[in-house]
Amino acid sequence: MAPADSRAQIVTVDLDARSYDVHVGPGVRARLNSVIPAGARRAAVLTQRDIGWTVDSGLDQSVFTVADGEEAKSLAEVERLCREMSGAGFTRSDVIVAVGGGVVTDLAGFVAAVYHRGIPYVSVASSLLAQVDAAIGGKTGVNLPEGKNLVGAFWQPHAVLCDTEMLATLPARELRSGQGELAKYHFLTGDDLDGLGLDERIAAAVRIKADVVAADEREGGRRAVLNYGHTLAHAIETAGRYDLRHGEAVAVGLIYAAEVAARMGRIDTGRVAEHRQVVTGYGLPDRLPAALEDDDELLALFGRDKKSVDGLTLMLDSDRGVEPVVGVPESVLRDALAAVR
Ligand code: GLY
Repeated sequence: MAPADSRAQIVTVDLDARSYDVHVGPGVRARLNSVIPAGARRAAVLTQRDIGWTVDSGLDQSVFTVADGEEAKSLAEVERLCREMSGAGFTRSDVIVAVGGGVVTDLAGFVAAVYHRGIPYVSVASSLLAQVDAAIGGKTGVNLPEGKNLVGAFWQPHAVLCDTEMLATLPARELRSGQGELAKYHFLTGDDLDGLGLDERIAAAVRIKADVVAADEREGGRRAVLNYGHTLAHAIETAGRYDLRHGEAVAVGLIYAAEVAARMGRIDTGRVAEHRQVVTGYGLPDRLPAALEDDDELLALFGRDKKSVDGLTLMLDSDRGVEPVVGVPESVLRDALAAVR
């Protein structure tokens, strides 16, 4: 394994006693044994078959292969893994190492949160989506037949390794999906991500997310800005009949949110154009799939968004930044849908 590149960057997620470092750069998976919690005796490596990367924790380690795809995020898989780890004698003195994308980090993080009432875990994030979003911030969980991520826990990792070399083997669609989440970060702060190379862009996104999580770990308020672009995205995904990955749906959702904000006088047309430029600059879609022609269905799905505590809440841009807005008129929601067709 190549030594970790000295160009790697370290971003700290500052949560007092639970603070941890996120290492970003080529080859940082080689740092695994230096970020394992002190005193850990054995490592349970949780990964999926198609991830195709091995890691060396420097400890006595056992590999547990989880189901392929999103199917892995189930309570049945949590039970199976916990039982296998129990059978293999893992205890709270051990550590879980999650090697994979968002599915693996969500599942392994949740297993870590509940196994023996909580054991430490380290994420080796192998997908762009995991590196800029899922692996950071301690949101862990699995799906129910009733919906995605409906069972979970906030359980922060001990460290995260975002090895940008691992992106080289990522299928093109997976990379594009991560780019949708990356595009979101262009609008969350005044930081200019355009001039940065991919590794620096990932580190910048991690830094933005780390700041948001440090300010609002459990999403009492500010953390909801990380859902920018996600209201329409979740509706597209929940409708479920369209061949769009999460990040591709977020890309269309970002344009939609900008179109809504413009119609509410919150941003000007130049800012909407900026959204289109960033999204299309990543080669991502800026329009709804042609087959998705039923506005009523989308509006009904908006109402089921997890952010909807008291009526529909949309994250919308303004010159103060992205913020939650309630009470967007239905006519605006419909008109903006026409703008992404
Ligand atoms: N993926 C959104 C969050 O971590 O809050």
